[in-house]
Amino acid sequence: MKVCVYPGSFDPITKGHMDIIERASKIFDRLIIAVLVNSNKQAAFSLDERVDLIKACISGNPNIEVDSFKGLLIDYMNQKKANVIVKGLRVVTDFEYEFQMALLNKNLDADIETIFMMTNSKYSYLSSSIVRELASLGANIDEFVPEIIKNRVLDKFRVGKG
Ligand code: COA
Repeated sequence: MKVCVYPGSFDPITKGHMDIIERASKIFDRLIIAVLVNSNKQAAFSLDERVDLIKACISGNPNIEVDSFKGLLIDYMNQKKANVIVKGLRVVTDFEYEFQMALLNKNLDADIETIFMMTNSKYSYLSSSIVRELASLGANIDEFVPEIIKNRVLDKFRVGKG
C-alpha cells in the first residue's frame, strides 16, 4: 500500500493545495494531509480550524485523511508507515527551498522519497498569505479558496473578529 503525506501549514487551505491533493490522491492508495502544529510562522487560523477547513474541502473522499503533526516530518512519516512526501512546486524560487528540504529529509531517512507536482498554472502565484491578505482587505477570494470554506475564511478577518 502506497501511503503519501502532503505536509504544510495550510493557513488556510487554498485551491492550489486542492489541486495537488486531488492529483496526488489518484496516484496513491492513501493520502494523509498533515498539518504542522508548531510552525515557526504565527498562524492566523488555529490548528483545529485549519484541520476543519481541510476536512470540509475533502469530505467524501475515502482515501484522503487529515491529521496534524509536530516535530520532524520524517518521524511522523515513520509513525504513519508512509514512504512518500508530496509537495507542490509553483515557481522557480520554490525549487531551491524544496530541494534543500528534500535532500535534508533524504539524509535523515534514505527510505523516504519526496516527489514534486507542478502546480496548475492558474495557481502558480497563489499562497495562503495572499488569501489572508485579500480576505483581510475585503477582496473577493472566490478564485482562490474552495467555495465551501469561503465564508469561514472571510469571517476570520471581518473587523472585530480574531
Ligand atoms: N498552492 C498554493 N499555495 C501553495 C502551494 C500550492 N500548491 N504549495 C505551497 N503553497 C504555499 C503555502 O500556502 C505557503 O504559503 P504562506 O507562506 O503564504 O503560508 C507557502 O507556499 C509555503 O508552503 P510550504 O513550503 O509547503 O511550507 P509550509 O509552511 O506550508 O510547510 C513544512 C512546511 C510543514 C512542510 C515543513 O516546515 C516541515 O516539514 N516541517 C516539519 C519539521 C521538519 O521536519 N523540519 C526538518 C526537515 S525540512
